[in-house]
Amino acid sequence: MIPDPSSQVTAADLDARGELTTSPGPSGRTNRSRRINGFRTLSDIAPAAHQALSAEIWDYVCGGAGTEATVRRNRKALDRLLLRPRMLRGVADRDTTTTLLGTPLAFPVVLAPVGGLSLFTPQGALSVAYAAHATGIVPFVGILTSPRLEDVAADVNGPLFFQLYVQGDRSWLTEMVRRVEAAEFSALAVTVDTPIHPRRERDIRNDFVPEKARERPNLTGTSRPSTGRDAGRFRMSFDWDELGWLRSITELPLVVKGILTPEDAGLAAELGADAIYVSNHGGRQLDHAPATIEMLPAVVQAVAGRAQVIVDGGFARGTDVVKALALGADAVAIGRLMCWALAAGGRQGLEHALHLLQEEVSVTMAQLGVTTVSALGPESVMTAPA
Ligand SMILES: Cc1cc2nc3c(=O)[nH]c(=O)nc-3n(C[C@H](O)[C@H](O)[C@H](O)COP(=O)(O)O)c2cc1C
Repeated sequence: MIPDPSSQVTAADLDARGELTTSPGPSGRTNRSRRINGFRTLSDIAPAAHQALSAEIWDYVCGGAGTEATVRRNRKALDRLLLRPRMLRGVADRDTTTTLLGTPLAFPVVLAPVGGLSLFTPQGALSVAYAAHATGIVPFVGILTSPRLEDVAADVNGPLFFQLYVQGDRSWLTEMVRRVEAAEFSALAVTVDTPIHPRRERDIRNDFVPEKARERPNLTGTSRPSTGRDAGRFRMSFDWDELGWLRSITELPLVVKGILTPEDAGLAAELGADAIYVSNHGGRQLDHAPATIEMLPAVVQAVAGRAQVIVDGGFARGTDVVKALALGADAVAIGRLMCWALAAGGRQGLEHALHLLQEEVSVTMAQLGVTTVSALGPESVMTAPA
């Protein structure tokens, strides 16, 4: 559920507690987003971001498709799952580490690809990558972010995953894949839930056009078609055969992002995907799509160990992350929580949020009587009686 900032701690509360830093940022400007970085709990982050962002950017990040039923459902479905604690199991030493696509993670969380990161913090994808590496995890760098993918890879010293929207023909795709390989990204994700731009009603009402608001340097100078049926943001004719072809042209681990059904998960695993990324785009694409946590067990069953499984959609707490791991996910991605943390406190804000999230995961594991990520299983969760 989109947090109602009025019902939570606000920036004014933080101010009253002396938790707002008022020093100017490196540029000498007192950027509002840099000042609000004193949150102490994960619940404090969204209200602080609400204070830091303009109304239209707040709506852009929080909003979803149509009536936003799926945005709400992601959250409600997580809340309907209960955790079943087991006692007296010796939980003094806990290990939250895991491995995703051959890359070690300090805890089973990754940063979802988000376009327009510079709307939240000036250095965009760079701040995200620094914060991820400082906390031992990996970001998906989205094609619609800035700076250019080559510049992010050159600047940071740690593993990066890349996310591609299919916006052109095979020669355009080959060009993009070769760039991602040359920049030594560790995995390539293709987002498949976006054949067409949805109606996001908050943006429509606000006259907010993300394409105009955000820079897209990764697309500059590429051979994207500007006319014809596939012109514009997405190549609507992209299908399973084309995905199979994409699989065949690269050795990079391939992630298929935006899978919701076991049927599609099976197809993606069959054609050699290394990870199935269960996502409804945070409720931003198809309104009334199911919550991701509802679909996760069937997807895990269909994949049957042929690929790893990542999930996102409404994840905001350590308990949420642990629920998905118990149901068979290998890692959880966070989208809006990352954006809010960036808006509230820039790179340091995101780092702090990730430390809090890791701490919550570790505490939850202890309370469930589990000491390693791989020991989490379905016996740790149950659905709340209606
Ligand atoms: C502001 C915003 C921009 C996004 N941009 C992209 C994108 O460029 N590519 C993509 O695959 N997903 C994009 N997503 C979807 C996220 O990757 C992720 O699936 C979603 O945010 C997860 O749900 P959560 O926000 O509830 O954590 C975006 C999400 C948000 C909130």
